[in-house]
Amino acid sequence: MENKKTFNKQNRSKMKVRLVTVLIFSKFVLCLSLSYAQERKLVVNAANTVIKIQPTMYGIFFEDINFAADGGLYAEMIKNRSFEFTDPKMGWVEPNSQKYYMNPTSGFAHVTRYSGENTNRNYVHIKVEDTSGYKLINEGFRGMGIVEGAVYNLSLFGAVGEGNISKINVSFIDADGNELGSSSISPKGSDWEPYETVLIPIKTEAKAKLLITFDGTGTIDLDMISLFPQDTWKGRKNGLRKDIVQLLSDMNPGFLRFPGGCIVEGRTLAQRYQWKKTVGPIADRELLINRWNTEFNHRPTPDYFQSFGIGFYEYFQLAEDLGAAPLPILGCGMACQFNTGELVPLEDLDPYVQDALDLIEFANGDTNTPWGQIRSEMGHPEPFLMKYIGIGNEQWGPEYIERYKIFEKAIKSKYPELIIVSGSGPFPDGDYFEYGWEQLKELNTEIVDEHYYRSPEWFRENATRYDEYDRGGPKVFAGEYAAQSVEIASPENKSNWECALSEAAFMTGLERNAEVVYLTSYAPLMAHADGWQWTPDLLWFNNLESYGTPNYYVQKMFATNSGTDLIAISEDGKPLVGQHQLYASAVTDFNKKQLIVKLVNTSKEAQEVSLNFNGANLASNGEAQILSSNDLTKENSFELPMAISPVVEQIKNSKGKGSISLKKNSLTVIKFKTK
Ligand code: AHR
Repeated sequence: MENKKTFNKQNRSKMKVRLVTVLIFSKFVLCLSLSYAQERKLVVNAANTVIKIQPTMYGIFFEDINFAADGGLYAEMIKNRSFEFTDPKMGWVEPNSQKYYMNPTSGFAHVTRYSGENTNRNYVHIKVEDTSGYKLINEGFRGMGIVEGAVYNLSLFGAVGEGNISKINVSFIDADGNELGSSSISPKGSDWEPYETVLIPIKTEAKAKLLITFDGTGTIDLDMISLFPQDTWKGRKNGLRKDIVQLLSDMNPGFLRFPGGCIVEGRTLAQRYQWKKTVGPIADRELLINRWNTEFNHRPTPDYFQSFGIGFYEYFQLAEDLGAAPLPILGCGMACQFNTGELVPLEDLDPYVQDALDLIEFANGDTNTPWGQIRSEMGHPEPFLMKYIGIGNEQWGPEYIERYKIFEKAIKSKYPELIIVSGSGPFPDGDYFEYGWEQLKELNTEIVDEHYYRSPEWFRENATRYDEYDRGGPKVFAGEYAAQSVEIASPENKSNWECALSEAAFMTGLERNAEVVYLTSYAPLMAHADGWQWTPDLLWFNNLESYGTPNYYVQKMFATNSGTDLIAISEDGKPLVGQHQLYASAVTDFNKKQLIVKLVNTSKEAQEVSLNFNGANLASNGEAQILSSNDLTKENSFELPMAISPVVEQIKNSKGKGSISLKKNSLTVIKFKTK
């Protein structure tokens, strides 16, 4: 949205008129107006770069929490496509076979094990006794979102048994069983064969299901029954949801952290994330219960598993698509310390360390190395150019430090160029944090991950958090943060404007300290409207749509205006860190030839600000992106996805001087071209 607005002297004289009018009316209003009218004189020193901004400054934290992978980013629409869940029929319904025990009239499905050792353990053996009666239905991930006229690829493996089954019929149905588009497959032979067809819905439906019926009677075996929209991100077959990746891409992320989060560690070591089990042919990737399946009693998600349809190859590919540096985080032989805290004895750590070394080879190795060859066979002979690797997620205590040292030694001796990210535990302060930092500093580590899930006030009060950090010590990865409107992980937390605005205030502090802070990411990234466990989240989606929260727009405004060089902005020689409820940071972008100022006004009054750009030769016309709301409790929603979203106004400066009225409760990003 574009609004024409000139500011400067014209604005100030309008203000004077307003003041005079107010004078006549009330002394009380006059007081307010006088403070409102006081102009803050800010100086931007464009002549000197304080420090280079890392291209990784603003990135993305991805974790398979809240149905973010299966049921979310991964566009698969069939839940439990290969009958591997703990309850192997979960997600599948046989409405006409419930009487089976008494009177098996229509048919039934037996989940059956393949013989021998197999990562894909099960298939379904179906006996159709009454051709018109037997139905097998998949309910999708809390339904399936289908769009009228769009094309959906259905694929499966099948092997016909005894009898005369000649067709597998597939249809979309709505809640009342009405058919919304159908197709069929003619299976041939008793050997396992792959089959494909397409379905085109005649109606858009948010909670469709897939119905399977058969022509003929007899037996048939099916496996890997899979359904994807054809229109995926970059048109990749059986790929990622386009709308969600677009939202990520629009953020212009500097890095992609994956696969988490606590999911890296697992509730137990057996349930930890093992990257080697997530690469290679999709059907052979061994399913794992998602650790968030059972984490919160108030949000049980018994149908939450990891098919690893998005595995490490796909994460690297996504990072490449987004132009983001890949940042994998690996477990270090410690299960989540909030759960079992299971430990691998130090003398048994080798396989875990080897996983890290092999991952580096998988990402960067030549195609004639064993893991480089696997990457190449999967379709990417070129290296993924991975520069960073994280060891441990939210570990704490001496148990972490002693394991970290072993990883560090092994990685650095083979790959000295790899930058290792270590962690300081789950909290931004306290004993674990202090101990972690002290030890990691002593070890002279490169980057330390910090996590903070705190109140909006904490974020506003901590804009100076990094001002005193040792410039010569390890750099900081603000790897997980989000303002919690109620308390950490409360289901009542809201992604409201107060939280987003407070994060914006805090982020000016991250940016001002770019000398120390090298990477930052909000967490968690996204949530399914019907399948979430954790709030707040940056993006929301259902099976048809997705939208960004106000916090998303804050992230986007910082990340798309990250600049290349930090410059100073001050009032009376001091940085703006909350005085008069104002926060500020400034950068130049030497590539785009821009000067960018970020201003956050957390006051409930508008504030007048003059800007003096020293040492810059600016084009007189520029723009201001403004994110604001009068209502701190306001949120975006599926109905009003852009309720809080940036508005662009045209602005001017005259010979490097200008002024602007900052709206109450606002983030304003001012941008001028440099000549
Ligand atoms: O972002 C949600 C969780 O919060 C992450 O999995 C974990 O690292 C942190 O405790």
